[in-house]
Amino acid sequence: MRKGSATERRELQRDDPQLQEHLRRVKGYMRGCGLLAFPATETPLRAQLANFMEERTDETARIWIETVGPALNIPPSAWGELISDIRDAHRRWIDHIRNPDDVETYVYLRAHARGGFISHFPPSRFLSSQLKIRQIVADLLRRDLRDRQALPELLALLDQEFSERALHINDFFVEAREQDLEDQKESYRRSIDSAPAPMFMLEAPDFTIVGCNQVAEQEVGLEEASIIGRPLWALHPESERTRVRALCEATLIHASGRLENLHLERKHGEPLPVDVRTALIDYWNTRHIQTIYIDLSDRKRLEVQLIQSEKMAAIGQLAAGIAHEIRNPLGIIMNALYDLAELLADPRPEVNEDLQIAKVEMSRVQEIINDLLEFSRESRGERQAVDLNDLVGRTLKLMNKYLQNNGVRAFTDLERIPVCHINENGMRQVLLNLITNAVQAMPRGGELHVHTEAAATDRVRLSVRDTGVGIPPEQIGSIFNPFYTTKQPGEGTGLGLSVVHSVIKNAGGTIEVKSTPGAGTTFVLELPIDHPDADLNAAVPDRGYAD
Ligand SMILES: Nc1ncnc2c1ncn2[C@@H]1O[C@H](COP(=O)(O)OP(=O)(O)OP(=O)(O)O)[C@@H](O)[C@H]1O
Ligand SMILES: [Mg+2]
Repeated sequence: MRKGSATERRELQRDDPQLQEHLRRVKGYMRGCGLLAFPATETPLRAQLANFMEERTDETARIWIETVGPALNIPPSAWGELISDIRDAHRRWIDHIRNPDDVETYVYLRAHARGGFISHFPPSRFLSSQLKIRQIVADLLRRDLRDRQALPELLALLDQEFSERALHINDFFVEAREQDLEDQKESYRRSIDSAPAPMFMLEAPDFTIVGCNQVAEQEVGLEEASIIGRPLWALHPESERTRVRALCEATLIHASGRLENLHLERKHGEPLPVDVRTALIDYWNTRHIQTIYIDLSDRKRLEVQLIQSEKMAAIGQLAAGIAHEIRNPLGIIMNALYDLAELLADPRPEVNEDLQIAKVEMSRVQEIINDLLEFSRESRGERQAVDLNDLVGRTLKLMNKYLQNNGVRAFTDLERIPVCHINENGMRQVLLNLITNAVQAMPRGGELHVHTEAAATDRVRLSVRDTGVGIPPEQIGSIFNPFYTTKQPGEGTGLGLSVVHSVIKNAGGTIEVKSTPGAGTTFVLELPIDHPDADLNAAVPDRGYAD
């Protein structure tokens, strides 16, 4: 069975058009150079040489191993096997000499030059051993056919056949090495393509892109053909181009380079924050620069979150301290105001009106203090199992009048989600603040969309979208800061989103905002579920808020 498949393989190789082409080519060179004195057809002279060699196969193999074995450092233990191999190889050559159409010998040689034992050594080593065989056969011819007329012709035929063999061997080795290089190039290309970082290959000295990997195509948002031909810096914002060009030039001098905090322009979406590494590749007389882009977006996001959290923690402590200090005097002032109102019992309406104003404003101050306390860590509150869809429904119902008065139409898309693990009061605050902000961002009315869905296995996603004025990009980094507000004095304290941020962080969730000025804003929250394998059926009983 095994023998059968090996034979089949050789059959295939014999019919291989590349081999056929190769055999034709070598024959053509020999003919052109006048090296083919004896035709490639079966002749009596060929038969005579073949028979002579065949009869002396064992002797040839013995003399050969005694010289070649020590010369090529082949241990005597391996000689037995080698002799048997060389006999087989010799017979295949003899078959070809007898009948030039029999090319089995070249099918073998070609296969062995590629991946076989002889491919592990320099071609000269193999060729020397072949030269030795030719020399042994020539010596035997001179020894045994000394007086024969045919001797010069037999020697000349041997020379012709050996020259042809040497040319084939040479080409087979080169072909095998070329194929190895092709394979290496292919695997190199594949590993670059699957590398998880955008990579570009540049040609010096003008630093135009001559190739890129698939990740680069995806990030830039263009096909390789459209990226090729541009200078590398064309992929960067205007303000970074001089630095990128300088990096390329420095790479030619120092062989490698790196630049931090750059941006890769993208057809779709924001520029990607990146670090860039370069390496010079000198090859013959071409110089290329390989550039690798390291995506920093995750790191940047984490940094921003960390800074925000630290800032919040610091302000939270401050707020808690102040709120405590103010709450007691406030209570005293409120009491004093009530006392005053009773004590004075002043008939003048302006006195009563002033007292009324003082009380209303004091209540507002108390509300702010409560917000501050909510924002601070003190009022973190216990987390419990909360049916978020239920809470959204109740909150919207509560705010129904407010929404109507402001011409806002509310739409909900509440998917089946697991129960969340959050503080219910805190979460109600979150919804109230997000919805209030959305309504305030739509002074002429608009749409409010609330959507819930299961996110990762242990998360629930809530998004609140409005069709309001949107937030300019330069303001988006500040909106979670306490006391940041764009509203008129008296209309907002700028604590709403700080409270939201604080509640979500304390629950171990995340909050992100996307906004297009003039089109609207979406807040996307991800909240932890009660336990990761929670049933999709909401476990919280219906509280009967339905109409
Ligand atoms: N949906 C939104 N659309 C547009 N801008 C928004 C939206 N939500 C928040 N903002 C911006 O973020 C700022 C901060 O919001 P935040 O809720 O913290 O404070 P506020 O609404 O101004 O005051 P407060 O909530 O304390 O009454 C707002 O002043 C507004 O500029
Ligand atoms: Mg607000």
